[in-house]
Amino acid sequence: MEIFKHLVYALSIVFSLLHLVRAFNQSGCISLDCGLPKNTSYTEPTTKIDYISDAPFIGSGISKNIKPEYKANQQKQVAFVRSFPQGTRNCYKLNVTESTKYLIRATFLYGNYDGLNKLPQFDLHLGPNYWVTVNFSSANLNIVKEVIHITLHSQNHLQICVVNTNSGTPFISALELRRLKNTTYVTSTGSLALDRRLDIGSTTNQSYRYPYDIHDRLWKPYTQKDWTTLTTSVTVNNIKSTSNSQAPSIVMSTCVTPLNASGPLEFYWEPPDESNQYYVYLHFAEIQLLQSNQYRAFDIYLNGETWYEAYVPEYLKSGAVFSTKALSISNYSFSLVRLQNSTLPPILNALEVYTVIDFSQPETDQDDVDAINNVKSTYTVSRNWQGDPCAPVAFLWSGLSCNYKDFDTPRIISLNLSSSALTGEISSYISGLPMLESLDLSNNSLTGLVPDFLSQLEKLKLLNLEGNLLTGSVPAELIQRSNSGFLKLIVGENQDLCASFSCKKKKNILIPIVSSVGAILVLLNAAALIVILKRKKRYEIRLGARSNVKNTSLEPKKRQFTYSEVIKFTNNFEVTLGKGGFGTVYHGIIEGTDVAVKMLSSTSVQGYHQFQAEVKLLMRVYHGNLTSLVGYCNEGTNMALIYEYMANGNLESYLSAGGRENVLSWQGRLQIALDAAKGLEYLHNGCKPPIVHRDVKTPNILLAEDFRAKLSDFGLSRIFPTEGGTHVSTNIAGTPGYLDPEYSTTNRLNEKSDVYSFGVVLLEIITSQPVISKSKERTHISQWVSYVLANGDIRSVVDPKLEGDFDINSAWKAVEIAMACLSSTSTKRPNMNEVVIELKDCLAIELARRNIPLIDSSANASVMFSTDSSIELIKPLAR
Ligand SMILES: *[C@@H]1O[C@H](CO)[C@@H](O)[C@H](O)[C@H]1NC(C)=O
Ligand SMILES: *[C@@H]1O[C@H](CO)[C@@H](O)[C@H](O)[C@H]1NC(C)=O
Ligand SMILES: *[C@@H]1O[C@H](CO)[C@@H](O)[C@H](O)[C@H]1NC(C)=O
Ligand SMILES: *[C@@H]1O[C@H](CO)[C@@H](O)[C@H](O)[C@H]1NC(C)=O
Ligand SMILES: *[C@@H]1O[C@H](CO)[C@@H](O)[C@H](O)[C@H]1NC(C)=O
Ligand SMILES: *[C@@H]1O[C@H](CO)[C@@H](O)[C@H](O)[C@H]1NC(C)=O
Ligand SMILES: *[C@@H]1O[C@H](CO)[C@@H](O)[C@H](O)[C@H]1NC(C)=O
Ligand SMILES: *[C@@H]1O[C@H](CO)[C@@H](O)[C@H](O)[C@H]1NC(C)=O
Ligand SMILES: *[C@@H]1O[C@H](CO)[C@@H](O)[C@H](O)[C@H]1NC(C)=O
Ligand SMILES: *[C@@H]1O[C@H](CO)[C@@H](O)[C@H](O)[C@H]1NC(C)=O
Repeated sequence: MEIFKHLVYALSIVFSLLHLVRAFNQSGCISLDCGLPKNTSYTEPTTKIDYISDAPFIGSGISKNIKPEYKANQQKQVAFVRSFPQGTRNCYKLNVTESTKYLIRATFLYGNYDGLNKLPQFDLHLGPNYWVTVNFSSANLNIVKEVIHITLHSQNHLQICVVNTNSGTPFISALELRRLKNTTYVTSTGSLALDRRLDIGSTTNQSYRYPYDIHDRLWKPYTQKDWTTLTTSVTVNNIKSTSNSQAPSIVMSTCVTPLNASGPLEFYWEPPDESNQYYVYLHFAEIQLLQSNQYRAFDIYLNGETWYEAYVPEYLKSGAVFSTKALSISNYSFSLVRLQNSTLPPILNALEVYTVIDFSQPETDQDDVDAINNVKSTYTVSRNWQGDPCAPVAFLWSGLSCNYKDFDTPRIISLNLSSSALTGEISSYISGLPMLESLDLSNNSLTGLVPDFLSQLEKLKLLNLEGNLLTGSVPAELIQRSNSGFLKLIVGENQDLCASFSCKKKKNILIPIVSSVGAILVLLNAAALIVILKRKKRYEIRLGARSNVKNTSLEPKKRQFTYSEVIKFTNNFEVTLGKGGFGTVYHGIIEGTDVAVKMLSSTSVQGYHQFQAEVKLLMRVYHGNLTSLVGYCNEGTNMALIYEYMANGNLESYLSAGGRENVLSWQGRLQIALDAAKGLEYLHNGCKPPIVHRDVKTPNILLAEDFRAKLSDFGLSRIFPTEGGTHVSTNIAGTPGYLDPEYSTTNRLNEKSDVYSFGVVLLEIITSQPVISKSKERTHISQWVSYVLANGDIRSVVDPKLEGDFDINSAWKAVEIAMACLSSTSTKRPNMNEVVIELKDCLAIELARRNIPLIDSSANASVMFSTDSSIELIKPLAR
């Protein structure tokens, strides 16, 4: 007889309290009466388990009651149901403890709660994983679905979802979580779904659970025609073993033997699907007090093969025979055969069968989930936003797309909330989705500024803000990324939104560099210096309130180049400009404009991510005194960064080059120092978070054709180790001679370390001396300056090639600034903002001597890629 086809279904689960209730440790357990009115709770009379309303754990669904005639002989928690007429997937979110084994039970009793008298069918999911289909055969039959599942390390909640499969409205009656010991129901892989848990030979119609079963498992009565029942009224104890959860006494106190006492005890089932994997637990306890001439021992066969040899049940002590590995066969035919010398037939007290269930689809990254849930509540998004955002794919939240391949857990890479009637500001929670590549907020009624945090979304390739009521200006970094082709920025029609670098400064627009430049100007005015602001011709996209400008899209210029393009515009790497720690720099021409192409050598490139990090960093910085990125190439191992071309090479070579014609004037030197200082000041104060250059030195200061200076290689040393890679720390730490002496104690480089390095650069500019003398003493430039000042005067310090053509006070001031920067204690060093102000003073003094007005081009240079200088600040040089 095939077991379970003849399963005696208990029509109801009736419980009686035979024993005193053992204190049920409900800590860590959750017992929800689904549909129970908010804030209500009760103690179920038969089990003494406290049930609470499910309302705090789910935001959807409606409370319903089963029809009174179905309530008889039922536990209280099935009376209410929560029904889900709306939404495809509705999810409970339950707090759990990480790395903990739980028994999770969902109970369903239809009870004609909707008056339709039509049994629905729907699915149950555990988080992103399909669990089971709930199918009913009768309105008064409890359907119980159980899994034994270990929460992941770091998992603090579980989502249990009821999923509409277009076969009626889903509902749920009760949801229960019970903690189990780690050592129970051990599997090699996966979770276990309950197939059946049987109280064999039960003499009642009752299913037993808590308080009979301390673990609150549910045992259903079962017997077969060819079996006979034995019972005892004595308590059956658990064997001390903790490795296995044994059945409760009331279940163990009844057992069956075959009617034909000399025949085997047999039962079998055929799996609906041969690929099903089973774990089987057979529970035994001797419940007859055996006489000295009596003996019970049997072999257990599975499909005719010995599964367990000579099992002897112990008197009143439960034991179990169970599979330690999953079984996967086409027929499960068990046969318990008495041994030759056994005087008694085999017995069986209880049986548990579980199937392995695959819950391996990971949940979406927790931070992404938190962020998107906050976005959801900020904008009260309805849609299908329930359960895991990305998984399963079939229930992907509408408007989202996710990357399932490249991360351990799915990550949200695109968010489309266009035409969703959003109001208020752009939610800062969006910044919690760092993998976003596409963000579409178009055609809503969003107000306020375009927030800066959008620029932190470093992977963003598309940003659509059109058709909103946004004001202010688009953060400069986004514009920069748009201009360099990394971002497609669509602002289209908006209240009063400016999307260019040269937006008029309006209230509330905080482009940090503009304010710091403003501060400098105020100070300069105070110093009563002649300040002439030469404004550049502006290219400006101003969009009037609901103007008729439609669909203004800052189409990205094509800034990603193919390797063959790189070959073409470098003329097959014809002209080498230099060699850096991370590759060779070549000259190139793009559309008639000179560029410098840095090919990242395969030995120094640590892979795509570092390359991206580098590009990312360069995208964050945009300032007239920083070399700017023109584009990049990323084709397999061929990676290149393309910068604007700096015709006069680097400052180091320029200072060390011989020849009288190439001598930089004092004024030119101060201008270069000021340019470099401004670039550095921008990195420190204009970037949020600040960027510490960490490798300020004359080779990293590049000179344009007009001798305006730009800082280069910012941050590279942080990302790329030196070639060979062994001296990583040296390179990371900067260059000897330029290195902050505090580094040796702190091992950290901060803004003040850059200030120190800048001081060294400034001394080089003033003196044209090497940083470390080539003599045996290896004197540092600062020691040399101190020595010369102590023994001579300022004229001996300044580069003799200038032949005294400089203002003495200006020179003193410059040396003082440099020496202040070189304080061995970082707190005594000025910050770059102060350095910039002081250098401007120096320059102003020198210009006054020469009757030249000071032209401050920083107001534009800081936010524009200014290449033209307004006035000849450099002595005309023959080249
Ligand atoms: C209940 O269980 C928790 C954790 O499982 C434990 O810390 C607590 O001591 C237990 N309480 C009682 C009364 O057993
Ligand atoms: C539920 O309880 C909370 C706090 O205990 C209370 O603020 C709220 O008003 C209650 N709601 C109802 C419907 O009783
Ligand atoms: C679940 O845990 C979170 C964070 O630990 C907590 O804020 C929340 O109140 C908990 N929810 C319930 C229903 O206990
Ligand atoms: C259960 O196992 C997990 C991981 O295997 C472990 O972190 C946790 O501490 C264990 N819990 C107990 C109660 O042994
Ligand atoms: C659900 O139950 C009905 C009736 O009991 C049966 O006809 C149907 O095949 C079942 N569906 C599934 C998927 O088990
Ligand atoms: C079991 O239930 C059936 C149907 O409800 C009833 O006829 C029978 O008497 C019950 N048996 C016992 C032992 O309660
Ligand atoms: C009882 O089982 C034995 C051994 O399998 C068999 O030989 C015998 O015929 C069976 N008796 C009946 C009445 O089936
Ligand atoms: C499974 O085993 C039982 C008993 O041994 C037998 O009656 C049944 O036919 C077998 N089923 C299959 C598919 O082999
Ligand atoms: C019964 O026989 C088995 C081997 O078939 C043996 O291991 C066991 O000790 C015997 N038991 C007794 C009580 O003779
Ligand atoms: C966002 O959704 C709208 C409407 O569903 C669609 O027209 C638009 O193309 C989507 N945007 C993106 C970036 O896919």
